[in-house]
Amino acid sequence: MIYPVILAGGSGTRLWPLSRELYPKQLLDLVGDHTMLQSTVLRLKDFKGMSDPIVICNENHRFMIAEQFRNISISHASIILEPVGRNTAPAVAVAALQATSRGDDPLLLVLPADHFIKDVSGLHNALHTGVYFARKGRLITFGIVPEAPETGYGYIRKGKKLANSDGKPPERESLEAVAIDEFVEKPDLKTAIEYVNSENYCWNSGMFMFRASAVLEEMNTYVPEIVKACENAVLKGKEDLDFFRLDEQSFEACPGDSIDYAVMEKTKNGAMVPMQAGWNDLGSWEALWQVGEKDEHENVIHGDVLIHDVKNSFLHASTRLLAAVGLEDHIVVETSDAVLISPRNKVQDIKSLVNILKAGQ
Ligand code: GDD
Ligand code: MG
Repeated sequence: MIYPVILAGGSGTRLWPLSRELYPKQLLDLVGDHTMLQSTVLRLKDFKGMSDPIVICNENHRFMIAEQFRNISISHASIILEPVGRNTAPAVAVAALQATSRGDDPLLLVLPADHFIKDVSGLHNALHTGVYFARKGRLITFGIVPEAPETGYGYIRKGKKLANSDGKPPERESLEAVAIDEFVEKPDLKTAIEYVNSENYCWNSGMFMFRASAVLEEMNTYVPEIVKACENAVLKGKEDLDFFRLDEQSFEACPGDSIDYAVMEKTKNGAMVPMQAGWNDLGSWEALWQVGEKDEHENVIHGDVLIHDVKNSFLHASTRLLAAVGLEDHIVVETSDAVLISPRNKVQDIKSLVNILKAGQ
């Protein structure tokens, strides 16, 4: 059995003003007919052996998340509530502890809730390979050929190709995985440029697959204090309606860290499966423009928008008519209480804007 573990506790500040603490990016429907969280789960439909998902999120979002699952007829998701965010390593530890609590040792497929994947068959191919190597005890990450020296990603130096046969013929022909020679989370720009130019590195997609016991073993070695705090948070946690509430005091005492720094940079047991599936982490409005459906002038339009002589732009109206004339390469996002206007090549700076807003609160 494979348990999808959906990490849905982030805040996605770079998509301000639509993405807010109370309504983060993963709960929005910015691409296609479903929210990003719903699409994450729907992509797994038809993959053999996949159980209902385990979702880990902040308690403030519990009703929205439960409703989004109901709307796509997922009735048996386990929803684990965090009283505070402690980043992704504790979230994964909690899921692994919950999954093993009945004595099983299932495979966990850890998925961010806020990514776009164009080609579901490419994803499924990579997952099949992941299952094969994760069953052998490896900690699998899914790698993407890098397109630019992005500093917000993890980088993986490709090692030797792993043998894909243990005496038995492989179930599929294209089982390809490589050892991880080096995993560097969020390098500086100079280093990222070197990595991309060398062609020896892939981006970490942030999707992982491993046996619950394999990730817990590595966490016990490298970050035992996280495992200890999470054990307490699960042990003293309580069922509440359809949710499982982690114990507040124990979880608050847990050190915060990402699975990338806490485990993937350190483990000697990692492996990377290359994935070709039109992956995009939708980290900015620019990314949403890239994956969005365009009109004949390369504009992506959402909502009630009137344009004349507008090109290569992203225009989103939430609550009223948005009109634009003579605009090129811009992002305009209208909401009831805030409007964002930015050239497309400056959208990464929105994070600084949000920090200024937060400081003023
Ligand atoms: N439950 C829970 N609790 N989920 C969280 C928390 C938390 O405290 N913090 C973040 N998440 C969720 C986010 O909602 C997202 O779905 C996922 O975990 C990853 O967190 P991000 O904060 O978006 O990570 P990142 O984008 O900086 O980096 C990761 O993803 C990159 C690819 O997009 C890393 O894995 C990088 O190595 C990777 O390249
Ligand atoms: Mg992210």
